[in-house]
Amino acid sequence: MGEKYFVCACFYAKNIFLKQIKMHVEYRNKSQFLTAYRKILEENGYHDESETEKLILEIEDEVARRKRLGLYSLERQRVIKQSYTPIHPEIYTLKESFLSPKFLDLVQYCKDTDATFEGVFDYMQETEISRGYMIPVFTEEFCRMFLEEVQHFEQSDLPKGRPNTMNKYGVLLDELGFDPFFSTLREQYLVPVTRLLYPDQGGGELDSHKVFVVQYKVGEDIDLDCHYDNAEVTLNIALSPKDSYAGGNLYFGAMRTEYDAVDHWKEIEHKPTFGFLHRGQHMHGASPITAGERFNLILWMRASSVRNKKCPMCDNIPDLQEAIGFGDGFTKPEIVDICSVI
Ligand SMILES: [Fe+2]
Ligand SMILES: [Zn+2]
Repeated sequence: MGEKYFVCACFYAKNIFLKQIKMHVEYRNKSQFLTAYRKILEENGYHDESETEKLILEIEDEVARRKRLGLYSLERQRVIKQSYTPIHPEIYTLKESFLSPKFLDLVQYCKDTDATFEGVFDYMQETEISRGYMIPVFTEEFCRMFLEEVQHFEQSDLPKGRPNTMNKYGVLLDELGFDPFFSTLREQYLVPVTRLLYPDQGGGELDSHKVFVVQYKVGEDIDLDCHYDNAEVTLNIALSPKDSYAGGNLYFGAMRTEYDAVDHWKEIEHKPTFGFLHRGQHMHGASPITAGERFNLILWMRASSVRNKKCPMCDNIPDLQEAIGFGDGFTKPEIVDICSVI
């Protein structure tokens, strides 16, 4: 990773998801929060001051967690590297045998200089979702081994970071040592495809990512409320075999900027081993699972060339803050010293 990556300062104040009132809030300080959300809190049964205080403490904890995220993550990575024994060490480096032959055909077509947007549809399926595409990604065998690895890690007593405020259960795959795997997958296999499908989202310039596994289980997280991703393009891969859960489809509405609450939602049924590609700003969620458990792999792909102009989470020019690893995918545009050029 030659480039240095950053997060936007809005990460420390905006888009904090409160499960209790099912919405993302902004938190600068207590009085700003109470002024902005008093009515909504009351509508959600927060009449008692001590209950509201509890909620505020929870938010402040989350803000503190976000500020320490980079350091804690590095520390977890170090401990995991030292103490974790993988059950399938061979899957930590991407091999073509892990990929579906149909995916390899798609990628090969897309790498051809004559490839066109229309031509891609000979190799993958369009769906009812606008600019949402179902693509074959992994083999069944790889999904099985990968799931075993993730569950093996889950069962260990090693420290675990959680994907975000919406998913309490899941694994951050870079902490487990999968970053080189997904960098190769993104750079050599996915970007040739997204270059044709999403040129307007920086599809040919997706230069960083965040990758995690989410877990839905009856009795734990069963669904995912409507949201958009901190990504230009998202790939959501269904890892679990079809007979291991019931329910839990993905649903999509409008793009974030066109969204209204009475949107017409469309559901799609996810196919195991397939990935669903969509624009990060497309509003979506997951309906409740009704039995069993289901694991999905989420790859948020970012294009610094797009987000450096406007942060997708606050709609401003990003206020860059130091970060570790890929941060949230922002880079500092190089300042050209005009004197030295002349
Ligand atoms: Fe999402
Ligand atoms: Zn921002």
